[in-house]
Amino acid sequence: MITAKDLCFSYDKDKSFISKLNVEIEKGKITTILGPNGSGKSTLLSIFAGLNKPTSGEVIINNKAIQKIKKKDLAKEIATVHQQNTVPSDITVKELVSYGRIPHKKYFQGHDENDDVIIDWAIKRTGLEDLKDKVVMSLSGGERQRAFIAMALAQKSKILFLDEPTTYLDIYHQVEILELVKELNDEEDLTVIMVLHDINQAIKYSDNVIVMKCGQLIASGKVNEVIDMNLLNKVYKIGGFISEIENEIFFVPLKL
Ligand SMILES: Nc1ncnc2c1ncn2[C@@H]1O[C@H](COP(=O)(O)OP(=O)(O)O)[C@@H](O)[C@H]1O
Ligand SMILES: [Mg+2]
Repeated sequence: MITAKDLCFSYDKDKSFISKLNVEIEKGKITTILGPNGSGKSTLLSIFAGLNKPTSGEVIINNKAIQKIKKKDLAKEIATVHQQNTVPSDITVKELVSYGRIPHKKYFQGHDENDDVIIDWAIKRTGLEDLKDKVVMSLSGGERQRAFIAMALAQKSKILFLDEPTTYLDIYHQVEILELVKELNDEEDLTVIMVLHDINQAIKYSDNVIVMKCGQLIASGKVNEVIDMNLLNKVYKIGGFISEIENEIFFVPLKL
């Protein structure tokens, strides 16, 4: 569904950051990008979303090169929840969610009944009915994150990108967001590509992982086939062990 072919990218014209990266994202699955801080997770996500332009190589989405897809059409394919989401201080949840309909509208075209149905659906799907008239800035971290996911849902795209959706949340709200993401993947057939820091959450909630270090793809594939102590040691320079209970693996970190 998304294929990166010989992808190269640099922020600095004298120094390449990502070089000849090849990877495929499976349709209908949850893929998590893992890697230390600064390894290029957000950069890769932005290239996939068409926000960062590769210096060479290409990203193909549904058999089309991303560079050839108009911004507005791309927004019908991909919705992104960024790591740092900012909003005007007075905007309400419902107004925020309605922004998700913009890619489907012509300039100055107002909302119609269909938009209202989709906006209400997105609000309900993320459990925000009671908060829909509240100002986004007044919400808690978890509620705010759900509001941004609702806006992404209102875009009605089949691919959802989430950059560190749980980073600023306590453990209860982290699990709440990840359960919501899993539900959306199952029930709305959304292909999800997200960045997480917690290896055990990545194991539990993803089908596939992409592991990055210093702009390089270190490994990609099914969680159980990719994640082992060798890899974690190489990528994070951390020791520990991987255990298995009832067919689920989990990582116990220990100092080297
Ligand atoms: N806009 C930018 N301009 C220059 N360098 C950047 C920019 N964004 C990120 N970088 C650099 O690229 C590298 C990868 O960053 P990033 O993709 O944000 O990593 P991650 O998301 O894995 O923490 C880092 O060294 C970072 O400093
Ligand atoms: Mg990042």
